Amino acid sequence: MTWRRGTVSEFPGLASFAEMASEKARFETLNPEYAGTRVLDEVREREFARLDRLGHVYVDYTGGGLFGESQVSDHMAFLTGSVLGNPHSTNPTSALATERVAQCRKRVLSFFRADPDEYVLIFTSNASGALKLVGESYPFGEGDRFLLTFDNHNSVVGIRAFDRVSRATTRYLPVEPPDLRVSDETLVRFLEEGSGSRNKLFAYPAQSNFSGVQHPLEWIEGAQDLGWDVLLDAAAFVPTSRLDLSRWKPDYVTLSFYKMFGYPTGVGALLARRSALTKLHRPWFAGGTISWASVLAESHTMSSGSEGFEDGTLNYTSLPAVEIGLDFLDSVGIEAIHSRVNALAGWLMEKLVTLRHGNGERLARIYGPVDMDSRGGTLALNLYDAEGDPIDHREVEEKANRWKISLRTGCFCNPGAGELALGLEKDEIVGCLARSGNRLTLHEFQQCIDDRSTGAVRISFGVASNFEDAYTVYRFFQDFQKS
Ligand SMILES: Cc1ncc(COP(=O)(O)O)c(C=O)c1O
Repeated sequence: MTWRRGTVSEFPGLASFAEMASEKARFETLNPEYAGTRVLDEVREREFARLDRLGHVYVDYTGGGLFGESQVSDHMAFLTGSVLGNPHSTNPTSALATERVAQCRKRVLSFFRADPDEYVLIFTSNASGALKLVGESYPFGEGDRFLLTFDNHNSVVGIRAFDRVSRATTRYLPVEPPDLRVSDETLVRFLEEGSGSRNKLFAYPAQSNFSGVQHPLEWIEGAQDLGWDVLLDAAAFVPTSRLDLSRWKPDYVTLSFYKMFGYPTGVGALLARRSALTKLHRPWFAGGTISWASVLAESHTMSSGSEGFEDGTLNYTSLPAVEIGLDFLDSVGIEAIHSRVNALAGWLMEKLVTLRHGNGERLARIYGPVDMDSRGGTLALNLYDAEGDPIDHREVEEKANRWKISLRTGCFCNPGAGELALGLEKDEIVGCLARSGNRLTLHEFQQCIDDRSTGAVRISFGVASNFEDAYTVYRFFQDFQKS
């Protein structure tokens, strides 16, 4: 068993190995399903040995996944054992690249159990690139609707900035504190509002990258029955949960592969239902997206299917690594990852909610649900001192850096969830903006709202996480306790 080998003496806050072992035994009794995820301990030793060798505690999987070492060596072996040319020509190196792109497309569809007759896969540079494709191409017009939950990532919220969207009505579906979920009643009320509109797009994250809440996938069919096209942002969901597109049929699904398996970066995907894809109209064309173009006649014809959405040359040297990454996830088992991550997050949450300063004041406040029902292994929280004042998340991050704990702080590009969780009011934000001439740094904004917290601390678990990581994070937070 490895537990921050050689680091205990550096950090007086860390308990003895014996204390950790006894807490682990209690954890395993309370979480019998954890025993079924033992394969992940072997994977950690074999594929992620660098974490323990270099003394890192990595708990920012929602920021970016980690790759297993064999993913990189397998990819290098492929690249150095073949010659790849720019695809779409008949020469042998081009033909190989074309074949591998097609193979990767098939592999991604099959990983998500998507029927190729029903879904088209479009490679993008990341989830944001996939979201941009939908945002710039969806035919918003006068009287149309764009509905999005408050807890969407900025790359979804940013869709509102396209000129075309300004012709439609944009509405935000509130997530309600303390759980940061949407009530059925509110959802139905907002969905029914668009009854007279022609084009209606409803966007929500399958898992919030702020609170870890997993919104029901049942919303997809419910919204479609009311005439909405559904954009499911699956970027934070798919690294630790199964998305089965033979069961759930969103019109558009967006994701980044590095969040699922760390390597390669720079490749993401838009999975679109064929019927929904025909609804999208690109505002420009590029090399690769047209079947024909004329400068003299100022005319062009878009390619059909995925090609019309893939600008320029694909990242063809990296696509074989996507296949390797999916094979890696399959070999480990997404269900085992899900089960482990949830057990660790549940344990940490349970410990954190009971932490008190000597005078009885609460140390940590968690944003979102404090049970593991319909949520993933991501926790957002703030720490409070013995006087009940928030401890600045930047101070927490600085100390975590010294402990070699990679956690994340701030708003995680999720301003809506942050504003609701932190209890910020629209009037005070608008007031601060008006007083500053609409330009504010984060520090100025914080001063404007009387030094209240403008962000949070996020812990997220993933494929290589183990109990020792969760325990170290717990001891780290405990070190803020005043006796
Ligand atoms: C839910 C969600 N959507 C979209 C994104 C954007 O992903 P990318 O930065 O890979 O484009 C993120 C990134 O954190 C995310 O968590």
